[in-house]
Amino acid sequence: MTIVDMNNIVKRYGKHLALDCVDLYISKGEILGLLGPNGAGKTTLIHSLCGIINIDSGEIRVFDKSYRDNMLEIKRQIGLVTQEIAILWDLTARENLEFFGGIYGLKGEKLKQRVDEALEIVGLTEYSKKLPTKFSGGMQRRLNIACALVHRPSLLILDEPTVGIDPQSRNHIIDTVRELNRQGTTIIYTTHYIEEVQSIASRVVIMDQGHVIAQGTVDELVEKIQHEEKIKLEVVEPNDMLIEKLNKLDGVKKVIKEDKQIVIISSVGSGVLDRALYIAKDYGGVRSVNTEKPNLEDVFLTLTGKKLRDGEEK
Ligand SMILES: Nc1ncnc2c1ncn2[C@@H]1O[C@H](COP(=O)(O)OP(=O)(O)O)[C@@H](O)[C@H]1O
Ligand SMILES: [Mg+2]
Repeated sequence: MTIVDMNNIVKRYGKHLALDCVDLYISKGEILGLLGPNGAGKTTLIHSLCGIINIDSGEIRVFDKSYRDNMLEIKRQIGLVTQEIAILWDLTARENLEFFGGIYGLKGEKLKQRVDEALEIVGLTEYSKKLPTKFSGGMQRRLNIACALVHRPSLLILDEPTVGIDPQSRNHIIDTVRELNRQGTTIIYTTHYIEEVQSIASRVVIMDQGHVIAQGTVDELVEKIQHEEKIKLEVVEPNDMLIEKLNKLDGVKKVIKEDKQIVIISSVGSGVLDRALYIAKDYGGVRSVNTEKPNLEDVFLTLTGKKLRDGEEK
């Protein structure tokens, strides 16, 4: 069963085209990893899906119903964990959950039961009476996730839930997502961390500059570029002339400079390595050489010519 079917979605912010004819579908039971660098349009896409922003054109169907005609009913079945933590800071963890549960019409014993469940799944049961201002960033995020879960949505959307939090909470969140999925929740998980997508996503959609540039399982995506290899050269003088010469070699698809290192993406068996080493000699020589099989990061690199993490704020 198709849970989400978005077709030809266009969204402009003034002159800026944030979503340029984007299609997205999700089947029941999937964990969809929505991967892309900052500014790709991930949040805009998610906000269109949640009815937070109006799209300029396109068609959205959720749970096999037209969004426009069934907005309230659809929204009731979606849980959204926004990119910025959205909780009430002067309420305890439990009170936060009671508040959000109340918005969805839960009350009495049922509300209490759902609140207990949500606290349990994010591992905050023993902190239920504490204020989130006393929590670590990771615990605040977990409370935030619990708030999006308390009404038991069938579609849970998490927008970069692990940015800037400690590794322990990060692992906890990943485990929580897996567990919810095991229990039947369909998940959209937005991130610019390749490792997270690789570890949990059943399918990946890669976005860049308002476009979906590739989709498939991790294996399928890597398979697409299996006929390519990645050569990493650490050279003495990684200057533009050298890059230009490498770029002109037969079989070379892309050359990327990373500090003292040069990454060459080339066709397998094209003999680029020998010729690249020869050329590098004229530029002081090579300190180290390394060839690798492609991974998801390379899929992105090959498709866009840039690293996924480019421009990421530290
Ligand atoms: N409210 C807004 N007004 C103007 N431009 C926006 C607004 N929200 C997002 N953008 C722009 O749209 C593009 C996509 O942003 P966003 O969806 O937040 O990307 P992502 O979540 O992938 O980082 C970016 O270039 C961003 O600057
Ligand atoms: Mg975003």
